[in-house]
Amino acid sequence: MPTPDYTATENLPILFSRDQIQARVAELGHQIREDLNGEPAVLIGVLKGAAIFLADLARNIGADCTFDFVSASSYKSGTQTSGAVQLIKDLDEPIENKNIVVIEDILDTGVTLSFLYSHFERHKPRSIRIAALLDKPSRRIQPIRADYVGFEIPNEFVVGYGMDYAERYRNLPDIRILTPEVIA
Ligand code: XMP
Ligand code: MG
Repeated sequence: MPTPDYTATENLPILFSRDQIQARVAELGHQIREDLNGEPAVLIGVLKGAAIFLADLARNIGADCTFDFVSASSYKSGTQTSGAVQLIKDLDEPIENKNIVVIEDILDTGVTLSFLYSHFERHKPRSIRIAALLDKPSRRIQPIRADYVGFEIPNEFVVGYGMDYAERYRNLPDIRILTPEVIA
C-alpha cells in the first residue's frame, strides 16, 4: 500500500501526535464507559469535524451504542461570532429517554454547543454528556463546559484528526497548528 502523501503539511508544527491522541481518546472512552454504568447511549457526532474522533472514541467506549449525526453552522467572520447558529442536519432518531453523548471536535466560543445543548434538551433525553476532543477555554463566550475534554489548547487554529482549514487536512493523523504562512 502506498504511504499517504502529507508533504504539504510537514512544515506545520505538531501539537498532538497520533500516539498522544490515541492514548487520550482511549482514556476518555474508558471513562465514558464507566460513567454509562452499563446503560446504552446514543453517540451524536457534530459534523464534520467530529467524525474521526467519534469513530475512535466509540470503539473505546465499547458499550451498547448507536450513532447519530447533526450539522450546525455558526456565522463567523474572522474571530467574531454573531451568536446565530443554524441547524443544517437534525437527528435521524428520537432521543427521548435516552442517554446521549454529544461528540464535538473543538469547543471554542461555545456558541455552537450551547445551541445544540438546548436543542437536545427540548427532546427530553435521559441524560446529556458532552465530549470535546479539544477545548480553547480562553475563547469562551457562552458558559458551557464539556464533561470530557481530550486536551486544553491555547488560542491557535488547529487542523488534522477531523479538523479542517477550507475542508482540507481532515485526514491528517496528528493535530497540527495552522501557521499564518500556510493560510497566506
Ligand atoms: P464555537 O465557537 O461555536 O465553534 O465553539 C466550535 C466550532 O468551530 C470550529 N473551530 C475550529 N475548527 N480548527 C478547526 O478546524 C480550529 O482551531 C477551530 N476552532 C474552532 C469547529 O468546527 C468547532 O466545531
Ligand atoms: Mg465542528
